[in-house]
Amino acid sequence: MRYPEELIEEVRLKNDIVDVIGSYVKLQRKGASYFGLCPFHSEKSPSFSVSPAKQMYYCFGCGAGGNVISFIMNYENFSFQEAVKYLADRAGVKLPEIEYSKEAKEKEAKREKLLEANREAAKYFYYQLRNKPGEEGMKYLKGRGLTDETIDKFGLGFSCMMSNDLVKYLESRGFSDEIIKDAALATFNEKYGMSDLFWNRVMYPIQDINHRVIGFGGRVMSDAKPKYLNSPESMIFDKSRNLYGLNFARTSRKNHFILCEGYMDVIAMHQAGFNEAVASLGTAFTSGQANILRRYTDSVYLAYDSDGAGVKAALRAIGILRDCGMIGKVINLKPYKDPDEFIKNLGAEAFQERIDNAENSFFFEIRQLEDGYNLKDPDDRTKFIKEIGMRLMNFPDEIERENYMAAVCDKYNIGYESLKKLVAANAMKTGAGMEVRPIERPKSGIHSKDPDENTKKVQRLLLTWLSDEPKIYRLIKKYISPEDFTDELYEKVAVKLFEDLEQGIMNPAKIVDMFEDDEEHAKVAAIFNTELVEVTEKTEREKALHDLVFNIKKNSCEAAASKPNQTMEDMMKDIENKKALEQLKKTPFKLDD
Ligand code: UTP
Ligand code: MN
Repeated sequence: MRYPEELIEEVRLKNDIVDVIGSYVKLQRKGASYFGLCPFHSEKSPSFSVSPAKQMYYCFGCGAGGNVISFIMNYENFSFQEAVKYLADRAGVKLPEIEYSKEAKEKEAKREKLLEANREAAKYFYYQLRNKPGEEGMKYLKGRGLTDETIDKFGLGFSCMMSNDLVKYLESRGFSDEIIKDAALATFNEKYGMSDLFWNRVMYPIQDINHRVIGFGGRVMSDAKPKYLNSPESMIFDKSRNLYGLNFARTSRKNHFILCEGYMDVIAMHQAGFNEAVASLGTAFTSGQANILRRYTDSVYLAYDSDGAGVKAALRAIGILRDCGMIGKVINLKPYKDPDEFIKNLGAEAFQERIDNAENSFFFEIRQLEDGYNLKDPDDRTKFIKEIGMRLMNFPDEIERENYMAAVCDKYNIGYESLKKLVAANAMKTGAGMEVRPIERPKSGIHSKDPDENTKKVQRLLLTWLSDEPKIYRLIKKYISPEDFTDELYEKVAVKLFEDLEQGIMNPAKIVDMFEDDEEHAKVAAIFNTELVEVTEKTEREKALHDLVFNIKKNSCEAAASKPNQTMEDMMKDIENKKALEQLKKTPFKLDD
């Protein structure tokens, strides 16, 4: 079942696309549209556009597009129904109960069950830690300087020595072995049956941003290996799209995050008042995580370990942040290994100082690079400077790049003019876009190889033009009808658009809703967002429109004439078409002023 059309329309009208997308992506007004960095592919200059007039978005870089519902579908990975529901809740629109498909219902029920099992397990560990079986665990955590308040806030727990007590507990609460296994809380073995995954470890529940437990990290209390055991990924636990501590940090009201490597680091930081600290989940930091952080702020301070592995991980994270259009800074923790140790030894005030003095990530990278060269040696120094020149290419913005060039020259005593020449030469060599070109758009299809693509491109141009300037409809409708659009989807769009235009309505976002699947949404968005060449001179515009209409008509006539199995009627129609085409060719267009 689907929600009634009017209701979908109401939900859409009450969720302005600029507001909704603006809460995920930083948007800047440019003319009639807003632009930002596309959340669906990684890019450095904004090619993601949101049109308040059309209530649609479209990325000129990757072709993602649609209306506000498609955006939520894509961003949150929701189905059409789920996205409508989400937006209805957001705007306070009441929806009727809806019948989900059997499959969707089962999947949802399973997710709920897995979350419940995790919640119960967290409760069980929590209880153990605070009672006799967890005495050793509690001693360990206290020994690491955690207060009762912190231990409670993070819901820390303990899994005891027995190999299947959690399984027994969960079974007694009515959970099936299948759910316990799928929640990755236990493993099954022919010989021993079900056994707990975690035992004799202090337990760190991992929560999603809504504070739901989705997995665990468990730490040994000795030097045994592995130090940490983490839940494997499951239906509810996606390590690349969650961060430890984000459920608290997202509301910290600081304008940055602190990204750490470990669970203990996050906990120690929060205890010291740095409630903006988060960590990845026993895996390397991913661009999925960067994109999640970007919903809140674009500034991230790295508090990675100061050892070699930590530096390497920091360099990788810096690259990921940069690719996602975020600004990274590096906190120097020396002489301590990690934030936890730093805080324990020097306290919060000293840490705040380190935040204030955090190093720009570019300089951090260059400083690491420096270690590989002997700068007293002219050859080495030359190589080093050339490498800097290459890395400066990472700044597509000219002002930013020049600022960095100036700073680097200052720091390493390099002549500004020679570095500038070097960078310019690099740009020539690699063809990299060193000029601040506004947006790299896919080339218009005029010379494209796919013959259908050319035909579709002119059709898109007309449909976009119509949506930008509905008054041309009166002129073109004498020549063009929806059947002239050769692609099935285009024709459907045109039927609806022409119907609307007959009634003086222009609502492309609603046309998107005629389609369920998000690939179709993107195609419709492309139809209404084809780049028109800006022509202001009236006769030029008239000629451009005339060419477009003539082109479409000609393509459509040719397509009709080349259909196999022509009937007598088809042939008559063909002759008529040719006459009409001749007529059209001789009739110049006159646009109203
Ligand atoms: P660290 O070894 O730096 O541990 O690993 P830590 O966080 O400082 O922990 P303490 O202070 O020794 O208790 C950083 C992170 O890497 C993952 C964990 O997420 C850990 O918090 N890790 C580390 C594992 O997943 N497994 C391991 O065996 C070790
Ligand atoms: Mn540590």
